[in-house]
Amino acid sequence: MAIIIDGNKIAQDIRNEVRLSALALKEQKGVVPGLAVVLVGEDPASKVYVGRKAKACEEVGFLSREYKLAADTSEEKLLCIIRELNNDKLIHGILVQLPLPQHISTEKIIATIDPHKDVDGFHPYNVGGLVTGSPFLVPCTPQGIMELIFRSGINLSGKEAVVVGRSNIVGKPVAFLLLAQNATVTMCHSKTKDLAEVTGRADVLIAAIGKPQMIKANMVKEGAVVIDVGVNRLESGKLTGDVAFDEVAVKASYITPVPGGVGPMTIAMLMKNTLTAATAGFGK
Ligand code: GUN
Repeated sequence: MAIIIDGNKIAQDIRNEVRLSALALKEQKGVVPGLAVVLVGEDPASKVYVGRKAKACEEVGFLSREYKLAADTSEEKLLCIIRELNNDKLIHGILVQLPLPQHISTEKIIATIDPHKDVDGFHPYNVGGLVTGSPFLVPCTPQGIMELIFRSGINLSGKEAVVVGRSNIVGKPVAFLLLAQNATVTMCHSKTKDLAEVTGRADVLIAAIGKPQMIKANMVKEGAVVIDVGVNRLESGKLTGDVAFDEVAVKASYITPVPGGVGPMTIAMLMKNTLTAATAGFGK
C-alpha cells in the first residue's frame, strides 16, 4: 500500500516558510510583497480560486489586490490594466486567471505582463528560462509537484518519468523540471499509441489529463510514484482525480490524493513566486 503524500501539510509548511521570509524582507528592505489577481467573467471555479488566493496572501502577510471585470471587458481595457500594474511599485506579482473569454487573446495578455512580475511563469521569457535551465519564475502547479516529490525524499536521478498531458500550464513545464533533475522523461498525450505500455514503464507517473480515474492499476508499475493533477467533478458533486486512487494505491509506493494532494500546492507556490519577484526587487 502506497504512502499518501499530504499536500495540505506540505502546502502549509511552504506558506509558513514564505510568511517568515516575507517578514524578514519587510524588516530588512521595507518591502511588502504585493499580488494583483485579475478575473474576467463569472466562471464559478475561477471565482473560488481567486478567493483562495486572497486568503493565502493575507495569511503570509502580502498585499493583495483583486480586479473583477465583466465578461464583456474589451481586450484593450484588460491590456491597459496590465500595463498599469506593470508600472505599479506596490505590485510584484500579476496573475490573470485563465481561461479568458473567447474575444480576448490569452497569448497577447500573457506577453504583455512584465516577465519579472509574471508569477504564473507563463510569459515566453520565463518559459525560455525554464527550457534552457536558468529559470526565474516557474509555473505554480509544476513547481508544486516537484516540492511534493522533494519533500517526500524521492530522488529522480536516472528514473523513468512519464507525463500524461501536454498542457502549457502543467504537462510541458513539469517535463522540463523533471528533466532538470536528471529523470528520463517521456510525454504522452491523446494520440499516444499503447498508453498503458508507456505509463507502465514509469518510476514516476504524472497524470495531468483531465479525465476522471483514467489511470487504472494495470497502467502502473509496482512501486511507482503516482502524482495526480486531475480535478474532475463527478455528477454526484464529488471531486476525483485522473487516477483510480483505490486500485492504484495498492501498487504504488507513493500517491497523491484528490483533493488534498497537488491542489493546495498551486497557491502555496504562487505565494513563493510572489516572494521571489518581490525579493528580486523588480517592483521597486
Ligand atoms: N487556471 C487554471 N490554472 C491556472 C493557473 O495556474 N494560473 C492561471 N492564471 N489560471 C489558471
